[in-house]
Amino acid sequence: MAVYLDYAATSPLRAEVLEVYLEHLSVTGNPSSVHSFGQGARQVLEEARESISRSVDCNRSEVIFTSGGTESNNLAVKGLYWQRQRDQSRPLIVSAYTEHHAVIDPIEWLVAEQGAEVVWVPVNELGEVDLIWLEQFLEANHSRVAMIALMWANNEVGVVTPIPSVTALASRFDVPVHSDAVAAVGHIEVSFASSGLSTMAISGHKLGAPVGVGALIVSRATKLVSVQHGGGQERSMRSGTMNSAAAKALAKALELASQELEARRIRLTDLRDRLVAGVLAISPNVRATSIGADRLPDNAHFTFSGCSGDSLLFLLDAAGFAVSNGSACQAGVAVASHVLIAMGRSQADASGCIRVSLGLSTTDEDIDALLAALPRAYASAKRAGLPNG
Ligand SMILES: Cc1ncc(COP(=O)(O)O)c(C=O)c1O
Repeated sequence: MAVYLDYAATSPLRAEVLEVYLEHLSVTGNPSSVHSFGQGARQVLEEARESISRSVDCNRSEVIFTSGGTESNNLAVKGLYWQRQRDQSRPLIVSAYTEHHAVIDPIEWLVAEQGAEVVWVPVNELGEVDLIWLEQFLEANHSRVAMIALMWANNEVGVVTPIPSVTALASRFDVPVHSDAVAAVGHIEVSFASSGLSTMAISGHKLGAPVGVGALIVSRATKLVSVQHGGGQERSMRSGTMNSAAAKALAKALELASQELEARRIRLTDLRDRLVAGVLAISPNVRATSIGADRLPDNAHFTFSGCSGDSLLFLLDAAGFAVSNGSACQAGVAVASHVLIAMGRSQADASGCIRVSLGLSTTDEDIDALLAALPRAYASAKRAGLPNG
């Protein structure tokens, strides 16, 4: 039986969530219709909104349902940027190159097509953003800054950004902050109310809900220009018929995740630390990434010198372990992770990486089995050599 250790890519649909999802999938009615069928579907949707607002600590009216993390990030980045151009031209977007492509690509599109400018905040070799640099930059340029976008936790190397420190800085200059919290919500404590954020992206399939549902939390004080136009649903920020069953499934997954957060953190940190110690003992040529930084409890990321991460990934898959190299594969061509390159790694170094992400069903035995299989896989991957070596 293969061992799934790629929860950060997507996590299995939880049985409790599936039950709730199936129960509501057959409910007939458009939540915007006035008749009793419509009102039934509306009730399901509003119960989900209420429950999500409790799980992420926000007001229920701040929950905007979307199709997932990519849509939420696009709506926040483009919507905040366009909104800020309405009264005054503020072309600058401040972000970091360690962000997910769901944030980087909309920013680069705004630059290419809409006259925006981007400034990438420097990150150190651990992947932490330089807040001193950010403060100095805002002091000098705040009147031209449209928005800041910095993720709550990095999906590849697991580094957590101190979001309240970012928003404390930004609020001095009246600059709205968006955070991609897709990798953070359900993994670490996240309170929107005390975050100081204007917007925050969530995705269901990273926490045991189905693929295709997510939310953008939009503070009541924040206005956004919407990306898609139509029926004016979701405070006119996201037109389209709402998916009550998926919203209910997301709510259930978030409810479970917040109930289990502390126990999960303790259990998975323990397993993760044992994995890191065991992997480092394999060879002095293996390094663990971002050790010493504030990190997600369920993420381990390694560099295996002298081999390609793709070979290692393939060999581990053949041995029954699903892990990730964390980097994009565009049109079948392996590309070194932009996150690691932003952290100052060389192309060769960045291509020998493996991310192991743990979750609900990960056991001690899974970690033992992976540790037993790795030395052989690493030796074979080294014999296969580097991609261009
Ligand atoms: C940090 C982060 N942001 C955004 C996304 C995109 O989310 P979705 O797959 O729900 O569109 C992902 C998914 O890989 C992610 O890890």
